[in-house]
Amino acid sequence: MSASTVTSHIPGINDEALARAFEPYVLESFDLQDPRWVARVAHVAGKMSRPPKPAHKGLTSDGIRNVETVGDLYRELWSDVNLADQLQSTRSLWFEWCGRGVRARAIGYKRVVHLYLAQAIEWLKPESVIEVGFGWGVNLLTLAVQLPQVRFGGIELTDSGVQTARRLAADGTTPDLLMDFALDGVHDASALNRLDLRQGSADAIPLPDKSVDMVFTVLALEQMDRIRESTLRELARVARRHVVMIEPFREWNADGPRREFIRRYDYWSAAIADLPAFGLVPVAATTALPQKLTFHAGMVIAEVAAGRR
Ligand SMILES: C[S@@+](CC[C@H](N)C(=O)[O-])C[C@H]1O[C@@H](n2cnc3c(N)ncnc32)[C@H](O)[C@@H]1O
Repeated sequence: MSASTVTSHIPGINDEALARAFEPYVLESFDLQDPRWVARVAHVAGKMSRPPKPAHKGLTSDGIRNVETVGDLYRELWSDVNLADQLQSTRSLWFEWCGRGVRARAIGYKRVVHLYLAQAIEWLKPESVIEVGFGWGVNLLTLAVQLPQVRFGGIELTDSGVQTARRLAADGTTPDLLMDFALDGVHDASALNRLDLRQGSADAIPLPDKSVDMVFTVLALEQMDRIRESTLRELARVARRHVVMIEPFREWNADGPRREFIRRYDYWSAAIADLPAFGLVPVAATTALPQKLTFHAGMVIAEVAAGRR
């Protein structure tokens, strides 16, 4: 793959594959002029225009999102995760999707993420892959059983996330539960035993230089604006070939209410254009995913610059 142009085309991603991943999770679909959709957009816009409440989880009372506040938020969230409940959950979110408004099961968004990551892996052919900020492990567990030829591992800030992911990897019922959820089914349940799951922070990744072919993040950098530069340096340091990020880059939230919302809630503010300064050369970028109303996220594939490999 040449690094001289940024493509929006990821081989294997097309309308049919995206629909197969996401449509089963869509609960309601609206024309953009539908008064119910217009009312929902107005409701979210109202929320976005107000400052966060002083006790907003994930932020200090001064509105700072730092490693401590983020750790506190997710330590609690990931301490009690039941896989069946997560996969069957009907908790829904509102998305813009293919020129429509939709209310869809939140877990359906992950299926689109897994489609993109699986196709990126097909394309780039890494032998080893880690996720930084893996939460309770939904991405790693699902990709590992589908792509057993790849060595998967991850780094997560919270001890509860690491413990939960390890527990689910060791639980004999996990492959059955993943069977319908994983887009490509379960090819090898024993891959779960080979997951290398560690606690650590993205700004000091406990791995040697160039130790994995691909590093990926999914809505994790969004939490790391206060450690933005050290984190990007670390991703570029441990990756031998590629860094893949599904994150709300600035180009997609450059101005207006989305920019203001990101600023108020202290989310990720780096631009794709910032990546080369960290030795990461963007080769692909796309926003063809369901988009939340608060901010837009897309996938960027960056190649580790030649001099650093
Ligand atoms: C929105 S969740 C996303 C989890 C997972 N990537 C997913 O797609 O389900 C953000 C995750 O990033 C983790 N995180 C935040 N800051 C981190 C840091 N400095 N180092 C490692 N992980 C971090 C949080 O603990 C949380 O698990």
